[in-house]
Amino acid sequence: MMADRYKLSSTSALVLLWTDETTYPCEKSRKYLEQLDLSCGREVFNQCRDIWPDYGEVIRNRKYCIHNVLFNEIKSKPHPQVIIFGAGMCPLSLEILDRFSDVKIFDVELCPNPAKEKIMSGLLNPGQCIRYLHEDIANTEALYNKLQNAGYNPEMNTIIVLEGVSYYVCKDRLWNTLAAFKKSKIIFEYLVTDEQIDPERRHIPNAAFKAVADDCCLKDIKRYNIDELTQPPTPSTLNPNTASPCTTSNTPASATIPFSQSLTVGGLRYA
Ligand SMILES: C[S@@+](CC[C@H](N)C(=O)[O-])C[C@H]1O[C@@H](n2cnc3c(N)ncnc32)[C@H](O)[C@@H]1O
Repeated sequence: MMADRYKLSSTSALVLLWTDETTYPCEKSRKYLEQLDLSCGREVFNQCRDIWPDYGEVIRNRKYCIHNVLFNEIKSKPHPQVIIFGAGMCPLSLEILDRFSDVKIFDVELCPNPAKEKIMSGLLNPGQCIRYLHEDIANTEALYNKLQNAGYNPEMNTIIVLEGVSYYVCKDRLWNTLAAFKKSKIIFEYLVTDEQIDPERRHIPNAAFKAVADDCCLKDIKRYNIDELTQPPTPSTLNPNTASPCTTSNTPASATIPFSQSLTVGGLRYA
């Protein structure tokens, strides 16, 4: 039976092993998840559980919070477009379409994932679609162009979900990309710095993130303090080579820090 399932990489499997039916309750998500083999994520999952038995709660709470804010925001004011950056294997698109069938969804990932795209496509209602884009979100201009080619309309209200991704992307380039999406609200979760964590519990996120970083051969994990999220970066911290189409000429990138328009900035505090 397992042989019929799609085997995921360890990191993709890990994040799903931390979820349950309360995280992705809709029937289509359940059917999608049934077709995935998460066994490769077990080792790092067990390592994190040994670091702190309740580690999964952190991820479920993060997801609960993000989904809640996202769905309430779409309910309160129609947002015809949602862009999910670094969507990975998570079935958030299916959950959105289950509740709001008219939302246009752009699912952005570094590399194509034929298994996910195939399974999800088979589960959609007639007329529904998810637009899959493959691009590094740090490549602002290429990303923006691909989105526009796929039907993204910069004049329409848009929500951007950036979940579980901020740790991987260079800060300046992430800023540049988010600054490009002017009519957007950004739901953004991030890892706080050591100083913001109770010294007695600091070892928990450090050890868990080290286990994850070792597992995916990641050298550097980006962490954020509140000043970085609420104050515009100085121009020197922004890389002019990556300025987006929206942050050129009369609108300097330093004046378009995205977080003035962010909807949720939630940090994992472990406190
Ligand atoms: C930890 S997973 C999170 C998946 C999903 N957002 C979630 O929270 O369940 C991180 C995902 O971000 C993607 N990612 C990392 N860096 C990226 C980048 N520069 N551009 C696009 N995707 C990226 C990875 O491929 C991976 O699928």
